[in-house]
Amino acid sequence: MENNQETVGNVKHQLAKLFKESLSVTFPEELDVDPSIASCQNPKFGDYQCNNAMGLWAKVNGKGTQFKGPQPIGQAILENLPKSDVIGSQSIAGSGFVNVKLSTPWIAKSIHKMLVEGIEIWAPKLSVKRALVDFSSPNIAKELHVGHLRSTIIGDTLARMLEYSNVEVLRRNHIGDWGTQFGKLIEYFFEKCPDGEINGQAIGDLETLYKASEQRFNSDDVFKEKAHQAVVSLQAGVERYQNVWAKICEISLKESEKIYQRLGVQSVVKGESFYNPFIPGALKLLSEKGLIKLDKGALTISIEGIQQPLIVVKSDGGFNYASTDLAALWYRLNEEKAEWIIYVTDVGQREHFELFFSAAKLAGWLPAEDNRYPKVSHVTNGFVQGVDGKKFKTRNSDTVKLVDLLDEAKSRCKAALIERGKNEEWTAEELEQTAEAIGYGAVKYAELKNNRATNYTFSFDQMLNDKGNTAVYLLYAHARISSIIRKSGKDIEELKKTGTLNLVHSDERALGLHILRFAEAVEQACSHFLPNILCEYLFTLSEVFARFYSNCQWWDRRRRQVGCCCARQRPLL
Ligand code: ARG
Repeated sequence: MENNQETVGNVKHQLAKLFKESLSVTFPEELDVDPSIASCQNPKFGDYQCNNAMGLWAKVNGKGTQFKGPQPIGQAILENLPKSDVIGSQSIAGSGFVNVKLSTPWIAKSIHKMLVEGIEIWAPKLSVKRALVDFSSPNIAKELHVGHLRSTIIGDTLARMLEYSNVEVLRRNHIGDWGTQFGKLIEYFFEKCPDGEINGQAIGDLETLYKASEQRFNSDDVFKEKAHQAVVSLQAGVERYQNVWAKICEISLKESEKIYQRLGVQSVVKGESFYNPFIPGALKLLSEKGLIKLDKGALTISIEGIQQPLIVVKSDGGFNYASTDLAALWYRLNEEKAEWIIYVTDVGQREHFELFFSAAKLAGWLPAEDNRYPKVSHVTNGFVQGVDGKKFKTRNSDTVKLVDLLDEAKSRCKAALIERGKNEEWTAEELEQTAEAIGYGAVKYAELKNNRATNYTFSFDQMLNDKGNTAVYLLYAHARISSIIRKSGKDIEELKKTGTLNLVHSDERALGLHILRFAEAVEQACSHFLPNILCEYLFTLSEVFARFYSNCQWWDRRRRQVGCCCARQRPLL
């Protein structure tokens, strides 16, 4: 994601503005230089630094410049900084890096403003109004398994991040409800129930039905042929076939919905079948552009630089995954008016997306330049592994069902709570609710805290640990902070109006500075589709808070006892 407007409270933006002014005075002839502002790695030197001096030196060296090296350039940039209440002090280090320490009263004033005005106004301002996030998207008739976890949780989080940034998000579950697997399933169902009586019971456990039909398909040629025919009948709209198909979809979706509810994930199901009627029209448009060629009986689109063409109609005349995705893209752009379409899947599908995005560009549906709207982004995620580094599976099954996984997370949490005697303190309902909140939260957080692009190791022991970077630790920190606020007996609304905030102790200042960096963390997470940046921010926030809490309590009390002047200006909490 990118943002092109300034975000309220974003420190880097504010500093960039000041350095831009200084750069234009220092180098009036280099007006296109953007200030390069970063956080200081070592807080000893400052909070932020401007890194432009070296690059400018490379540009002007040998071109009759008055400067003798990067350091004097840095010095000039420093001296030309306009006066501002943002900066407390500045210094030069190494090859012209300008280190900046923010003014502590300014940090205090800014977070007070954040408290009063609410964090909503700190959201990044994106230039796009309506986005569509295509996520989760399991193939139906199989239960949701651990492989769907990543796309579901990451996709939901990206949607939330966009929504927070005031973008209207169309959440789409592009379920696989139209493939050849339905031929096998329907034919097998007719074999088992020749009268074709459809009810939930007859279809029963879809996973078993799917496995049995698969076995039959692989071992019996007559069945295979019938299954192929069943797809043709289904796609031709034959009622008997359509009815079974609809029932299978309904049962499968009901099961998935239960999981989505447990995870707090919302989406609108518009599966492959939805786009089927739009395929002929979309292909016609592509054909009119002269993009479609006949190749060994199939219709294909060739993309320069990619050896494998994109097959849009199979040699048997059937449509496929790519034809559906092209039609869906056309629909999303033209009917739903999405300016930005984001697909969240595992990295294994990269080539498919590259191919069909290129086809859409050739057709002129999307601009050739990636930074113009409407645009498409394929957000990939790595695979889930077991602690042994291999594909994650349980003792008795090859694929780990999500429902089992969530059950286990909850029951482990419940056991841990009972061990701590919480069953004596709480009602049964409270115990259940807490076990769910912690258990499901832990699964989600473990997923989000890793860089989505890397494979991640699924470990209950690790994710349910109450120390370290886990949801359990964060929830604990949050509960602790809430309890401190409750016990303080302070009315926060009143403090918003009358309180003044003073950051005196260094740990108090560190907490203030980290709170202030919220806008930056959100912006960075949004620009790279990386929820792990937000997790990191929150984890550090808990740590910085813990340090503040243990080091500033006694100190504050002492300040007041000895009648120190700073004790008179009471902190907010
Ligand atoms: N159903 C697909 C799968 O499980 C994912 C669909 C992703 N979305 C899309 N528009 N192709 O692999």
